[in-house]
Amino acid sequence: MSQRSCLSVILAAGEGTRMKSALPKVLHQIAGLPMVAHVVKAAEAAGASSQALVIGHGADEMRKAAAKFAPKAETFVQEKRLGTAHAVLAARDAISKGYNDILVMFGDTPLIDADALTVARLKLAEGAAVVVIGFRPPNPTGYGRLIEKGGKLIAVREEKDCSAEERKIGFCNAGMMAVAGSQALTLLDAVGNKNAKGEYYLTDIVEIASAQGLDVVATEASFESALGINNRAELAQAEGIWQARRRHEAMLSGVTLIAPETVYFSHDTEIGADTIVEPNVWFGQGVKIATGAKIHAFSHFEGATIASNCEVGPFARLRPGADLKNKAKVGNFCEVKQATIEEGAKVNHLTYIGDARVGAGANIGAGAITCNYDGYSKFFTDIGEGAFIGSNSSLVAPVTIGKRGYIASGSVITESVPDDALAFGRARQKTIPGKAKELRERFASAAAAKKK
Ligand code: UD1
Ligand code: CA
Repeated sequence: MSQRSCLSVILAAGEGTRMKSALPKVLHQIAGLPMVAHVVKAAEAAGASSQALVIGHGADEMRKAAAKFAPKAETFVQEKRLGTAHAVLAARDAISKGYNDILVMFGDTPLIDADALTVARLKLAEGAAVVVIGFRPPNPTGYGRLIEKGGKLIAVREEKDCSAEERKIGFCNAGMMAVAGSQALTLLDAVGNKNAKGEYYLTDIVEIASAQGLDVVATEASFESALGINNRAELAQAEGIWQARRRHEAMLSGVTLIAPETVYFSHDTEIGADTIVEPNVWFGQGVKIATGAKIHAFSHFEGATIASNCEVGPFARLRPGADLKNKAKVGNFCEVKQATIEEGAKVNHLTYIGDARVGAGANIGAGAITCNYDGYSKFFTDIGEGAFIGSNSSLVAPVTIGKRGYIASGSVITESVPDDALAFGRARQKTIPGKAKELRERFASAAAAKKK
């Protein structure tokens, strides 16, 4: 099979009016990735090394997005939406390059798994000319029905063109098809538009191929994997299914999720075995966690790297560029951005560390802040290994705290501190014996005079 070349043609020209959105439908995201990118990924996983993306509505935006999620894909514009067969033919130039297998997919079916596509390709390898991926939705209304005879598929009938008897069929067209590359263009060119909608139906190639005596079969995918998204309620439903799958995968790979339904992953989250994730944790894009980390409740991550045996949260926010080395700790109400927290360093309470390095074993006291921004530019703070930053200190960047440096609590540090030095950056304390008593008496008699 791997020797068979494969092109996926992904249809994404539609407007998706029911999304009620300025964004083209297929660019709405699931797990932080456009739905059409999920489709591309599934096609790639099933061995489609080339992709043709058929676009129309919002073509410029689609091209821009595709350059990111599918840089190798060729885009083809379908000027008028004349039906799914017409849309596939927009990619004629790609199809005519002569692939063994053509996979036709819809950009709004983001949960399709590679297995269903692989099964369809295997049928092509066994000699089928057309393979339709079918499914059994709880309510078949609106779907094309698969009409079979003696184990072979003889037609796909769109709902509007079905007889009352055909409408009773529960086995429906999920929309995905595998077509033998050698037959694809001949079959597609034979499709007409004499039907209820006056469109060129891709599904008509089934009847055409079958009438020519070619082998046409249906395979079956799960309802979930064939779910098509038309509105934001279905988008949320697909997100839910995606998250459930991903949580399950994470748990089977050795990650403990105490309340899995409250943990949200991104499409690219990497998380190692023996990590424990407490409830209500959000993984944005680009998060990598090695093994044995403890992620406490209500933490929010994006673009962060967490090495082995770190402890993070509760209520921690790791922003892009947060890089925690082994056994580092970032505690409650701390924010870390574009900063390395070296091995065993502790940033435990109410702290902002941005554009900084915190050396190995350093301890950052409660409420300490790196003042990295003057309103115009960002500056770097370097904290040496074993340093101690007293509570409620402000380190005004650019500034360097030497190894084992010691910053007194409440300091505002504007000049660098050498290794092993102690720095104070605050007013000296003044204590006046008896003064509190005298003040109280004065205030009390003033208040009494007012009342009279
Ligand atoms: C299609 C199938 C139907 C199947 C259903 C599954 C056909 C004729 N019918 O119906 O059998 O049960 O999907 O969801 O194929 N598109 C274009 N250009 C066009 C027309 C469509 O790019 O000219 C794209 C749309 O953006 C969409 C996809 O093709 O992503 C499917 O088109 P749609 O009109 O939604 O087809 P359905 O009527 O749902
Ligand atoms: Ca549809």
